[in-house]
Amino acid sequence: MDGADGWEWDETLFAGTARYYTRGRLPYAPGLPDALARALQLDGTGRLLDLGCGPGTLTLGLAELFAEAVGVDPDPEMLAEAARAARAARATRAAGADRAAGPAGRVRWVRARAEQLPPGLGTFTVATFGNSFHWMDREQVAATVRGLLRPGGAAVHLSDWKAEPPATAALPYPPLPHAAIDALVRAHLGPVRRAGRGLLPHGTPGGESGIFARAGFAGPERLIVPGGAILHRTEDDAVAAVLSLSSSAPHLFGPRLPAFETDLRHLLREASPSGRFAVRLPSTEAVIWRRD
Ligand SMILES: C[S@@+](CC[C@H](N)C(=O)[O-])C[C@H]1O[C@@H](n2cnc3c(N)ncnc32)[C@H](O)[C@@H]1O
Repeated sequence: MDGADGWEWDETLFAGTARYYTRGRLPYAPGLPDALARALQLDGTGRLLDLGCGPGTLTLGLAELFAEAVGVDPDPEMLAEAARAARAARATRAAGADRAAGPAGRVRWVRARAEQLPPGLGTFTVATFGNSFHWMDREQVAATVRGLLRPGGAAVHLSDWKAEPPATAALPYPPLPHAAIDALVRAHLGPVRRAGRGLLPHGTPGGESGIFARAGFAGPERLIVPGGAILHRTEDDAVAAVLSLSSSAPHLFGPRLPAFETDLRHLLREASPSGRFAVRLPSTEAVIWRRD
């Protein structure tokens, strides 16, 4: 991030979250790979650079559309999860009728901040930022990425669609008690949002449009890929969701982590005695910025 509010990035930002991440976070909308393939005319020959790849969510999910996909993240535990997921995908494929390496055979992982990419990565057709750009020195990274993209390439900013109209249909189980969870986190960690070793009183920055435009990108083109499916979540999923967040990452609780988890499970049982919750999968917003 750009030093907003005096906040400085440090390597503890997502410490301890990786083991909770895949279970806790909701997936991107299922139509995302097809929507990007159409919009970017991907034919399996290009190269993907996925910056802030976490446990490889997009790297692996989009790898089939490219000849090679490179996932970059500074958090070693995230990259270990990503490599584990790639191995699991390869093993599943090898055990089935299809003996080709599959998308997981085309990925590699690089431990780095997007601000400090190692030399020699080559050029790319597409660079993705999945819920990660706001953690970066955005002006610097946008300029660097533009230089790494081939002519006609694109940078894609992905997040939940913030303007989603509220759902009206009833859910089969209670929703997650977000306000009560936030209050519990504040009771344990203090009133101001935590991020690594620092505080983020005003949250992460938005307004990335000006940054991509100033870096010389054209656009944007905005895709809304519909979510909408009702997902059932267990109490363990809900705990994982909370501990996957930088603002309630395990390291922030120190020795009080077990006490926090006990309080959280109690709160969740009060909200849903069956331990089951229902959530509506958000739509995904993909904002495409073209290099030329
Ligand atoms: C919310 S997670 C998103 C993971 C994945 N892209 C996804 O869509 O599920 C944000 C990721 O960005 C990474 N990150 C934070 N600061 C970064 C930086 N300066 N450069 C590269 N990655 C960064 C974190 O380590 C974390 O894995």
